[in-house]
Amino acid sequence: MLTPEQVQFYEENGFLILEKYATYQETDALRQRMNEILDEVQIDHHSVFSTNIQTRTSDQYFLESGDKIRCFFEEQTQENGEKKQQINKVGHALHELDEVYKKFSYKTKLLEIAQALGHQKSAIIQSQYIFKPPQIGGNVSPHMDSTFLYTEPLSCFGIWIALEDATIENACLWALPQSHKIYPLQERFVRNENNDGTLFVDLVKERSKWNLKTLVPLEVKKGDAVLLHGSNVHLSYANTSKRSRNAYVLHLIDMACEYPKDNWLQRGEKLPLKSMMEVMG
Ligand code: FE2
Repeated sequence: MLTPEQVQFYEENGFLILEKYATYQETDALRQRMNEILDEVQIDHHSVFSTNIQTRTSDQYFLESGDKIRCFFEEQTQENGEKKQQINKVGHALHELDEVYKKFSYKTKLLEIAQALGHQKSAIIQSQYIFKPPQIGGNVSPHMDSTFLYTEPLSCFGIWIALEDATIENACLWALPQSHKIYPLQERFVRNENNDGTLFVDLVKERSKWNLKTLVPLEVKKGDAVLLHGSNVHLSYANTSKRSRNAYVLHLIDMACEYPKDNWLQRGEKLPLKSMMEVMG
C-alpha cells in the first residue's frame, strides 16, 4: 500500500497525504449513513466539544463514549438552528458499532499501512466523524494526538479521510513538518482519580513553545486521506466559510505497547479492544 518513498516522507515529516484512499461511492455512503445515524441516536444531550479550555467539558457522557456512538456539539451554536447542523463530532466507536462504518474502517489496506508504519498488533482505538459545520465549526488548537491516545512506547497514528474537499477556505488541517522529531510529547490527557473528569499531566519538566511559523496547509480532495504521526503538531482553524468540511478520522495504536488504564478513552467489558487482524479474521 505504501511505497518506500511514502514511508520515508512520513517518517521525515510526520504526515503523508494519500490520494484517493476512498472512492466517491464510499465517502457518499459514509455521509448518508451519518445522516441516518443522527436520526437514530439521541442528540438531545448537549455535550460540547471544545479544545480551547484546559480541562475540557469531560462529563460522564464524554467519558463513556469510548465504546459508544455519541454526539458532541459546537461551542458556538445558534438558538434557533437545527440541532443536526450544530454538531461538532460523533464518536468514538462508530467503527465497531455501525456496520457501514465497520466495513469501511476495517480495510486490508489500512492494516497494511499500519504494518508499514511499524505496528505489530494494530488496533483501531477510536473513530470520529468530524462535521466542521459552515460558519460555526470551531477551531482545534495545536496538539499532538498521542496526548489523547498515549501508549508506552508511543504508537498512535491517525488516518484522516476527507469526505468533502478540504481547502484553506473551509478549514483544512494544518501540520507542522518534522514536529514529531523536534518536540517531545509534553502532556497526557487522563482521567482523574475519581474517574469522573479529566486533566492534563505533564510529561516534561519544561515545555517548549512550538514554532508554528512553518505550518503547512493540507488541502485535499474528497476521498483523499492524511496520515498523521501521533507526535505531529497539527491544528485546524474555525470554519468561517459557507461550506462544511466533513471528515472521518480513525486512530490506531499498537497493542504490543502498553495502553494505560488512566487514559481518558476506555472501553467497557462489552466491547474490549481487539486487533485489526482479530476483527478481520
Ligand atoms: Fe488531532
